[in-house]
Amino acid sequence: MEYNFPVTRTTHPKARPADETKLGFAKYFTDHMFCMDWDEGLGWHDGRVVPHEPIAIEPASCVLHYAQMMFEGMKAYRTPSGEIQLFRPDMNAKRMARTNERMCIPELPEELLIAGVKAVIKEDIDWVPTAPGTALYVRPFIFGDEVSFSVLPAKHYRFMVILSPTGSYYAANDGGITTTRIYVQKKYIRAAKGGTGYAKVGGNYGGGMRASQDAMKYDCKDVLWLDAAEHKYVEEIGTSNAFFRIADEVITAPLDSETILPGITRDSVIQLLKYWGMKVSERKLSIDEIFEAEKNGTLQEIFASGTAAVISPIGWLNCEGEEHQVADGKVGPVAQKLYDTLYGIQTGTVEDFMGWTYPLGLKVE
Ligand code: COI
Repeated sequence: MEYNFPVTRTTHPKARPADETKLGFAKYFTDHMFCMDWDEGLGWHDGRVVPHEPIAIEPASCVLHYAQMMFEGMKAYRTPSGEIQLFRPDMNAKRMARTNERMCIPELPEELLIAGVKAVIKEDIDWVPTAPGTALYVRPFIFGDEVSFSVLPAKHYRFMVILSPTGSYYAANDGGITTTRIYVQKKYIRAAKGGTGYAKVGGNYGGGMRASQDAMKYDCKDVLWLDAAEHKYVEEIGTSNAFFRIADEVITAPLDSETILPGITRDSVIQLLKYWGMKVSERKLSIDEIFEAEKNGTLQEIFASGTAAVISPIGWLNCEGEEHQVADGKVGPVAQKLYDTLYGIQTGTVEDFMGWTYPLGLKVE
């Protein structure tokens, strides 16, 4: 279906960031945003592109009290010929469908998600950055804003898409990747079976802030989450999925616990490693097995993967004050190859041999 959303252009265009090598993560927002409403009986309606500006929200709106909301994260990239493309947006749509089902939020069809994203990128196409390591971060989100204190699904929702020219989430913003320090979190948990760990909802992240703040006291960027039942098996790193290379095996937590976010980068890493003939396991891995591998010299690499994080190698783990270095503490070869291949495919400098890119049919002239 062809969508033709009305556009209200800003009368106050902002200056774009002068130095694309110092964008950081989501510090700048573009000139426009996409909005759409959902009402009982009407479904999704009134899609529109409007200036990016503060929105009015009734203080009694249910999202402000009961957090009935969800979000997605994807990136738009500019290829050397000026085409704008997304990376596997069908996977975002599938994850969105599972999240919405979990949160009792109305389904948003994949074509509508992509149409909304495309409509706003079209207006702000000049904001897609080109410096190495950068991309236009795309944040679609939905929230219930019915005025109600009943703990029931809302009868009115808003779907919005906002855009931010962005560098990397963890690493030095120089277009490359560097190692970071991560704190092994044994006190707080991120998700438990039956909860919302597999869904992309704000509460998962708000509930993780205490742990990340505490990690910073140990000079760590974020935490390594362990499972809720036994505080023993590794789950995720901060807001990203986690990979461990021990001897000839690359291991990541399995999705069947329902506590792991099904990351699109996670899936792409698994597929690439298999394509390269490497042994990849989605299995439970205990923190003790990792420290054992460190002792016997088989712990080769740890890295986080995510849309924001891309591939973020970990050089050190801190566990209750005790330091554990991962191999030589430097970026490992597998993390580097994954980063180069993924970012290369995404930006069109490496051939897309997996068929993952999604050209939007928009071009910077
Ligand atoms: C992403 O990688 O897109 C995320 O959603 C992580 C974000 C919470 C920083």
